[in-house]
This record gives sequence, C-alpha cells and structure tokens, in this order.
Amino acid sequence: MTATTERPETTLDPDLLVDGSMLIGGEWVPSSGGETIDVVNPATVQVLARVPRGNAADVDAAVRAAEQAFPAWRDLDATSRGRLLFRWADLIEQHGTALDQLESQEVGRPSWGPPPMAGQLRFIAGQADKVQGLSLPTYSPDQLGLTLREPYGVVGAIIPWNAPGPMFATEVGAAIAAGNTIVIKPAEDAPLTPLALAKLALEAGIPPGVVNVVTGYGGEAGAAIPAHPSIRRMGFTGSPQTGSLIMKACADNLVPLHLELGGKSPQVVFPDADLDAAVPAMVMGITLNTGQICAAGSRVVCLRSVHDELVDRLAAQMQRVRVGAWHEPVNMGPLISERQHQRVLGYIDLGREAGAEVVTGGGVPAGYDTGYFVEPTLFDNVAPDMRIAQEEIFGPVLSVIAVDDEAEAIEVANGTEYGLVASVWTNDVGTAVRMSRRLQAGQVAVNSPLGAGVIGGPFGGYKHSGFGRTMGADSVLEWTQVKTVSMRAAVPPVPRTRTPEDD
Ligand code: NAI
Ligand code: MG
Repeated sequence: MTATTERPETTLDPDLLVDGSMLIGGEWVPSSGGETIDVVNPATVQVLARVPRGNAADVDAAVRAAEQAFPAWRDLDATSRGRLLFRWADLIEQHGTALDQLESQEVGRPSWGPPPMAGQLRFIAGQADKVQGLSLPTYSPDQLGLTLREPYGVVGAIIPWNAPGPMFATEVGAAIAAGNTIVIKPAEDAPLTPLALAKLALEAGIPPGVVNVVTGYGGEAGAAIPAHPSIRRMGFTGSPQTGSLIMKACADNLVPLHLELGGKSPQVVFPDADLDAAVPAMVMGITLNTGQICAAGSRVVCLRSVHDELVDRLAAQMQRVRVGAWHEPVNMGPLISERQHQRVLGYIDLGREAGAEVVTGGGVPAGYDTGYFVEPTLFDNVAPDMRIAQEEIFGPVLSVIAVDDEAEAIEVANGTEYGLVASVWTNDVGTAVRMSRRLQAGQVAVNSPLGAGVIGGPFGGYKHSGFGRTMGADSVLEWTQVKTVSMRAAVPPVPRTRTPEDD
C-alpha cells in the first residue's frame, strides 16, 4: 500500500457532528474561556472539528446543571428511566454507520461496522428497574427492616480516547440508569463520538442536565471534576499515573471511585494449544485498535517446546496485517497522536537496547510519512523484567517470553504490576482450571479471544489495573449507595424513667 499521497475522504454526518460546543444543562455552549482544541484524524492529520477547551468554571456550571436535574431524575420511576435508555439505544442503532465512521476517523481505526453502544445500553437499560434492596429480619413482629439502593447525586467520569463511544455508553449508561446525573469529560484526542452520543441522549428524551459533557484537557477540565465539592462519586479510565491523581483528588473530597487503568495482559500458550485458533486471535488481540486497548494481550508466555513454531506463525500472521487509513480495506490504523507515536517507537527502541530481538516490524511502515503509523511488531527473546515486558506500551507490540513449565508460566504471567485480563491456550482441562484460578486478573479467557463471547461479564482489574467493575449487571449497583430503613407499625411506648417513689 502506498497511500501517503492520496487523501482519505472525510465523512462526517452533519446530524451527529458537534463542532465548537459542549453540553451543559441541555445547552450547546462554548467554554467560558472561549478557546478551542482541534480534533484531528490521526491517519491524515486533517482537522475534523474543534471542541471547547473547558475549564474549572465550566465544570462548575455543569455540576450545577446536574444538581438541578437530579431530584426529578432520581424520582422518575426506574422503568421510565430504563425506557429512555432503550430509546437512546434505538437512536444509536439508527445512526450506527455514522457513529462508526465518526469514531473511526477520530480514533484512526478501520471501520468496524455497527458499534457496540446500542447493545451495551440495552443491557444496562434492562438493569435500571432491577436495582433491588433486601428485606431484613427484625427483633419485633411490628417492625420492618429493609435496604434501599439510592443514587449518589451528581457523579463524575473521565474517559480516554481509545474507545470513546463504548466508554461513554458504559459510564454514562450505568450512572444515569441508577438515577444519578453526570458530568463527564471525554479525552481531548477523541471527544466527537461522546458529543454525538450526548446529542442522541437529548433527542431520546433524557432530560437536560442529566448528561453533561465538558470537553478539554486533563489538567484543566479533567482535574476540576474530582476536585469539585459537589461530586459524590467518580469513575476513571486511563493511565495509572493519572488514575493516582484522580484518587488523590477523591481522597481530599472523600469521594468513592472506580479506576480502570490498563494492563500488560499475558497470553499463556501450552504445547497442546490449538495454534490455528490461537495465533490469529493473539495477533488480533495486539493489533485491534493498533494495540490501544486496555485489554490488549501484549505478552506471549509460552512453553519452550512450542516456542519456535509459535514465533514463526505469529510473525507470518503479523505480516498479513494491512495498515492504512480508516476507510481503506485495512486491519489496522495509525496510533492516536504524535505523542503516542513517539512513545510507542521509544518502547521499540528500548526493547532493542535491552537485547530483545525484533522478529518482524520494528518501526514506521515504508511510505507512511503522514499520520502516526507503526508496524505490527514482534519481539522474541524477551526477559520478564525488561521494560517492554513490564510497562503498558499501548501499541501493536507483542513480546514473547519462553518458560520451562507451568509454575514458571504462572510466575511470569503474574509478574507485573498489572492484572486486567489473561488468556490461556490449552486443550487440557486440568491446566485450564489451575490457570483460571491462579492468574491474577479481573478476567481470564481460555481458548478464546480476550473477553469474547460473554454477555454481561463484569470488567475491571486486579492490582494496579484498578478496582471496581464496569459493564456487568453490578455496574449499575456500583453507582448506588445503600440505605437501611427500619420502620415500626406504631410508636413504641417509651420506657419510664425510674423515680425515687418507685423504691
Ligand atoms: P491519561 O490517563 O493521561 O488520559 C486519560 C483521560 O484522563 C483523558 O480524558 C485525559 O484528558 C484525562 N486526564 C489526564 N490528566 C488528567 C488530570 N491530571 N486530571 C484529570 N484528568 C486527566 O492517558 P494518556 O496520557 O492519554 O495516555 C498515556 C498512557 O495511558 C497510554 O499510553 C496507555 O498506556 C495508558 N492509557 C490506558 C487506557 C486504558 O484503557 N486503560 C486509556 C488511555 C491511556
Ligand atoms: Mg496524560
């Protein structure tokens, strides 16, 4: 492919494109500072649109709008809240092609077809009226005890750029299904799909002020959300460094939160694995979205007897991955930004310097001077303590580590600070059971691509990959707090105070 001189077409649906404004209290507004940020297609570096550079004053306005909207939204019956979410999902489905194109262009990934957001929201919408409490035993028959699950009030979320549509749908969907109102900041690199989804939420009849979107940089609009005294709960997805800052801000405000902070997910391959199934799945797992997926399986941990054949087949499969711009018939697009391009290329250099061997890839593909492209890259002879084996690269870079036996496989697989997902390829049920128990990860996949095929699986991390779970049925419950109610049929007689006459 030699696409650098052809300019890929830009396809933006005017019904969905929000240019120059963000959503506060149902109004499309600029930032109070008046400045904007360019959003570019990372394949062509063409500007797609501009978004307001929001700041703390804008966040404050959004929080106040969310506070105003909260009582009516909380008091709307849960079935009606669910029905509005179903209607939102229908609109997303109707605009599926345009949303897919929009996200493809701002993220720089190939077109994926109908986006998952409608399905995600329908799953969550179905949970809205299944938020239930308990009935509790009491000491007296004229008393009832019960628990209520209530929304927190105004909640906040900060999401990254790698899957802006699905991230927006899961955080906003679960939070508002539970009756909260939300202020959410999309990433500065990919805010257009979130804004389009917010537009459809309004169109679906979700009342103004229930969903507020403040665009802007992390250190400005982002930092202002957990620091705001009226925010009652937070959700964050992104890097551990930023996650730690969010958690500190939440600590100052005594606000609970969940964090989803990426991974260094192992793919453990045993000699009895079906390599015909495993190899394409593993290559897909590290090249999908150009490796910019928190769940990307970035380490192959293989038993030595299968090593040579596996490396040959992984390399051949990686060489078949076609790279290019979103609208072309390709498997993999560019990285999101110049900064991430430098970061990923820097990690490739680090791997070489540390003595790992580049089997295929290892740089910018020939002919791609425009856009942030990088080749699918396979490193062999990687030692478990090398930085490329320990740190999240967030690019299409796969490291192969050979081990002697199952015990070493577990030690290496668990030997990073991360613990998001892990996959195992084996045909032995005993190996599968032991590995499923001993891998330290929030999700384990046996003989299947990471996370594939499960409906409503809770998603989240062990260790530094974070805590809290999104996506499953419990994700709605995470946005609720529990109240215990005790209720008597009648006011009980007050015990009389003992007086001297009693003696
Ligand atoms: P980041 O964690 O800095 O950005 C994620 C979100 O946090 C964005 O919306 C950003 O504007 C916001 N943010 C940044 N600094 C903030 C602050 N001080 N206060 C409040 N919000 C703030 O991630 P970044 O810089 O885009 O990527 C760096 C690395 O992070 C990637 O290479 C990757 O390893 C990891 N990452 C992991 C993701 C995941 O899915 N777990 C998603 C994005 C990045
Ligand atoms: Mg950052």
